[in-house]
Amino acid sequence: MAIHNKSHLNHALMSLNKMRKDNTLKNKTAADFDPPEKPIVCLNIMDCCDFLKKIPDNSIQLICIDPPYNLELAGWDIYGNYIEWASQWLNEAYRVLSESGSMVIFGGIQFRDAKSGDLIDIIQYVRHDTRFKLINTITWYYKNGMSAHRYFANRHEEVIWLAKSNNYYFDLDAVRVPYTEEQLQLALKDKRLNPENTRKGKNPTNVWEIGRLNGNSKERVGHPTQKPVEIIDRFVKSLSYPGSVVLDFFAGSGTVGRVCISEGRHCLMCDSDPATIDYFNKHLALMKELGQNTEHIAIHTIDDFFNAEEVEGVI
Ligand SMILES: C[S@@+](CC[C@H](N)C(=O)[O-])C[C@H]1O[C@@H](n2cnc3c(N)ncnc32)[C@H](O)[C@@H]1O
Repeated sequence: MAIHNKSHLNHALMSLNKMRKDNTLKNKTAADFDPPEKPIVCLNIMDCCDFLKKIPDNSIQLICIDPPYNLELAGWDIYGNYIEWASQWLNEAYRVLSESGSMVIFGGIQFRDAKSGDLIDIIQYVRHDTRFKLINTITWYYKNGMSAHRYFANRHEEVIWLAKSNNYYFDLDAVRVPYTEEQLQLALKDKRLNPENTRKGKNPTNVWEIGRLNGNSKERVGHPTQKPVEIIDRFVKSLSYPGSVVLDFFAGSGTVGRVCISEGRHCLMCDSDPATIDYFNKHLALMKELGQNTEHIAIHTIDDFFNAEEVEGVI
């Protein structure tokens, strides 16, 4: 009796074969890329919507933003119709992202009244009116925060991770958390876990405990809502690859630029507040004090940025 080989109908095998053939970014990690000799950094002072219009389609690997939410924290934090305004940059963000690209948006669910915006409004908009895929909602948990008497004191913020397509780049190995020796020995006995991955460390999960920056934190450069390097670093390492382009169009102090210089990513930043330039220079000075390499090429226009040989090669 003839034996028919039906392995081509086995779905698990089919997808494994597809993955093997698939040489797209989806299956790569940082080890597959050479970091640039010097990352290119372009910081512009202008409105984010004008800035985004100048960026070519499909040219950005990661957008990492911490937008204003109409909380009246400062003059920059006041917008009439929040989601109407936010929809402009969300649509442009989709256009400029590459097929393997991701966008992370910091926020909270601190809705106060009809005119304030929050992450729920943004999630509602991206779900119903865009083709973004919501991959994770990360809870950023911290132990240090304000006290409260009329409600439970807040100790978390959220960050959403959106991808342009299912072919998103994700380098989990770059951000695994090492086990202690004792945990490692226990995990290696767990038959459900792949020992090779276990040795690389654990998945950081979608709840991240990272301290907020206190007023006297050494990392502080003076911006009122500056984010910790550690949290930005985790996004840059997992969702972009060495030599790719990262964009922050609400740069604030330029924390994203600082991390990109350390991690060998090219970086485009903009903020409407000219004080960003001073804040960013303070970041560079702090890096030098810590003995970190600050070498980068500063470029002043978006056209020059995309014409630079190093960047041309990646898009
Ligand atoms: C929450 S802060 C970003 C802080 C930043 N993540 C950091 O670590 O320093 C938001 C920034 O958005 C900027 N901003 C507000 N409206 C803007 C607009 N229309 N275009 C560009 N930047 C804007 C503000 O000046 C502010 O610095």
